[in-house]
Amino acid sequence: MCGIVGAVAQRDIAAILLEGLRRLEYRGYDSAGLAMVDQDGRLQRLRRVGKVKALAEAAEHHQLSGGTGIAHTRWATHGEPTEDNAHPHVSDHIVVVHNGVIENHEPLREQLREHGYAFVSETDTEVIAHLVHWEQRQQGGTLVGVMQRVVSALRGAYGMVIMDSLDPSALVAARSGSPLVIGRGVGENFLGSDQLALLPVTRLFMFLEEGDIAEITRHTVRVWEKAGKIVERPEIESRVKYDIDDKEPYRHYMQKEIFQQPQAIKNTLEGRLNHGEVTLAELGEAETLLRQIQHVQIIACGTSYHSAMVSRYWFEALAGVTCDVEIASEFRYRKSAAHPNTLLITLSQSGETADTLAVLRLTKTLVYLGSLVVCNVVDSSLVRESDMAIMTKAGTEIGVASTKTFTTQLTVLLMLVVRIGRLRAHAMAMDKQIEANIVYALQALPSRIEQVLSLNKPIESLAESFLDKHHALFLGRGDLYPIAMEGALKLKEISYIHAEAYAAGELKHGPLALIDPDMPVIVIAPNNKLLDKLKSNIEEVRARGGQLYVFAEQGTNFIESKNMKIIHLPHVEQIVAPIFYAVPMQLLAYHIALIKGADIDQPRNLAKSVTVE
Ligand code: M6R
Repeated sequence: MCGIVGAVAQRDIAAILLEGLRRLEYRGYDSAGLAMVDQDGRLQRLRRVGKVKALAEAAEHHQLSGGTGIAHTRWATHGEPTEDNAHPHVSDHIVVVHNGVIENHEPLREQLREHGYAFVSETDTEVIAHLVHWEQRQQGGTLVGVMQRVVSALRGAYGMVIMDSLDPSALVAARSGSPLVIGRGVGENFLGSDQLALLPVTRLFMFLEEGDIAEITRHTVRVWEKAGKIVERPEIESRVKYDIDDKEPYRHYMQKEIFQQPQAIKNTLEGRLNHGEVTLAELGEAETLLRQIQHVQIIACGTSYHSAMVSRYWFEALAGVTCDVEIASEFRYRKSAAHPNTLLITLSQSGETADTLAVLRLTKTLVYLGSLVVCNVVDSSLVRESDMAIMTKAGTEIGVASTKTFTTQLTVLLMLVVRIGRLRAHAMAMDKQIEANIVYALQALPSRIEQVLSLNKPIESLAESFLDKHHALFLGRGDLYPIAMEGALKLKEISYIHAEAYAAGELKHGPLALIDPDMPVIVIAPNNKLLDKLKSNIEEVRARGGQLYVFAEQGTNFIESKNMKIIHLPHVEQIVAPIFYAVPMQLLAYHIALIKGADIDQPRNLAKSVTVE
């Protein structure tokens, strides 16, 4: 989603701002811009629709210079992706970049119009620029003082940075609902929406907290908390690694990330399995608390929500703990009641998803035993604000479509379920042998996934049948039903084919009416105890002329026919089948999107990290 970079330095900072934006590109955006104040105090602003590369070329052409500036990648929320709507927005000498959404921008815009301000964009951000300008003109004071008054008039979410070109010695930032971090340098300081953007210039960071306003100059950093009191925010040395390398020899990052899964899972398992047992050292003393768990509430969005759904089967079947799973954007706006001794688990690749973060903050006032996050980004907001964190070790994921972070998330969840099951051993039948079998299955998983990846070619050929399709159905049963949902999500987000998933037993309750020769039906068919039931569901589709594509495990004995194509998959231990079957679903979506010529790594309208509601 939108990205912010800012700097106050003695040296020219154009290259720093542009490199920062480039490092945030993978999060998704549709236009980019920057503004700098040059040595003579002149404000220079450049904006371009499209890629940061276009902005960098323009910057070179205009020979930008100066030591103070702000830059932004915009993911459109208010107004189309045009140059006029791109940030930074200005009001005379006030310059603003903003992530988030100002919900009361309309009444504010009306008031500002009455004060004589003319709007040149459709954005909510331009309202902030004029409001700052108006406040400064009316009551004066320092830019920090002005911002303290301005934020009290704003409703919604923001991470924003303000520059006054009349005084380029400082930048002022404000955070509420959208992350911002200060990067400390020597004789220079920086601001960013993500540490990744600033790693080339510093490893020392200070995270702004909700309601903070900060001012950075070349030599000073000051932070005021919500009530206006100066506060010290801890400085940390970043543990984040910039591991975004070239996508070569792959065509897309998504493809590379699909193929990285065996290694990503190995990395995630490393040091956590020992002589047939799961050890999650990071839980440490929290294990005492985990023994008391009677219920688990999992909150997530999108692909992470599908992981949550799979883990519900595991929590209840293996650990004997009841488990509820809910989408964050729903949970946060309903009145919920917590079961006694409930552990709250949030799942998030990015650790910055606005809705998930909002739930975590909300539940702090409710009676939960504690909060645990499974996340791929160290030092992200969810990691910092949760009581416990278990990291997936997938490495940075660039493709907007989650792949390796999904399978590693599931890997962590299975280990967590085992650990909780063992901690509650008195209440449950998870004996040492069951644990040892799961450990064996997890250890074998990377090589099982290698075998699936070797089916890339047949899956690529299968994808050709989808070229003229506009809809698809995905079927699964049991813990493979959420994988059917994930398959449908992957297909729709990168190929733009409308896809739905159903628990196969639900077909006859409505969706069967959709079946005709134009409706491809993708079936996940493991060799498990539900196989006969699934076969009956498949017959229901066949009898109505549906076109079936069955991903069938060895031993399931499906026979290929005119309206039933089979992809033969090797044997897999059933407990890890959801992780294993996610991979052919990813490959299928990838190849269909490739044939359709879609922008696979940055699908239209989507962002990698959804930091607004
Ligand atoms: O970073 P998170 O896991 O919290 O993100 C949640 C969703 O936005 C995300 O999983 C999204 O659905 C995926 N990009 C889909 O592939």
